Amino acid sequence: MKVGVLTLFPELFAAFATTSFVGRAVDAGILTLHLEALRSFGIGKHHSVDDTPYGGGSGMVMRPDCIVSGMEGAEQSLGVERAERRILLTPQGVPFDQRAARRLAASSSLLLVCGRYEGFDERVRYFVDEEISLGDFVLTGGEVAAMCVVEAVVRLLPGVLGNAESIQEESFSPSCSGCLEYPQYTRPPAFRGHEVPPVLLSGDHGKVAEWRRTQSLDRTRERRPDLVRALSPEKARGES
Ligand SMILES: C[S@@+](CC[C@H](N)C(=O)[O-])C[C@H]1O[C@@H](n2cnc3c(N)ncnc32)[C@H](O)[C@@H]1O
Repeated sequence: MKVGVLTLFPELFAAFATTSFVGRAVDAGILTLHLEALRSFGIGKHHSVDDTPYGGGSGMVMRPDCIVSGMEGAEQSLGVERAERRILLTPQGVPFDQRAARRLAASSSLLLVCGRYEGFDERVRYFVDEEISLGDFVLTGGEVAAMCVVEAVVRLLPGVLGNAESIQEESFSPSCSGCLEYPQYTRPPAFRGHEVPPVLLSGDHGKVAEWRRTQSLDRTRERRPDLVRALSPEKARGES
């Protein structure tokens, strides 16, 4: 997969792009991660990419001409005519979730556009395919949001994680029926008065599976009733 990120601060991605599984995906040729410096597309002596808002008001707005030239520059560097999905990171976008991560993981190329200041001139929106938000809060820039999207997507690419099963059976996955994952335990069997549930030490795989199904549903009911409401009546009863 080819991923381009248009940002005023490419240096923020230095460790992210070379560490852990993202770095390994790059080394293995599964991921091409290109960071395009928006400043190169700025205007005038200071390479400005922002200007005062028409109509007045505080703060600065990112110019559409610099952003769109930057997007095209990033695509040229990635060697694609146009990224399959051009994505604006904005608190006004659709909240990001695992379903979106799975959908984006099926794309051949993504371009993530990070805002700063008061955000983008409205006309930038004509040049992108979708707008993604990390949640109902406001960050200073889109870079952390872009890293979240890249991390959630790249770990789903075949060959990136050592144990493919770990992405089959985890919170929000189809095999958990979109619910939260069951509680996990490891050694020691007792820790400061808290014991591992005996069923997990029983060696009875059927009983373990049944316990996990029930725990997953109970936990989801308690913490995320919205997810349980989306289940079929059979799945909500833990029948399939
Ligand atoms: C200070 S914010 C601009 C907020 C904008 N004035 C508004 O009220 O919607 C600057 C940039 O940070 C990024 N950003 C902030 N919050 C975000 C969020 N929740 N999800 C994704 N990106 C976000 C966006 O790229 C945005 O353009």
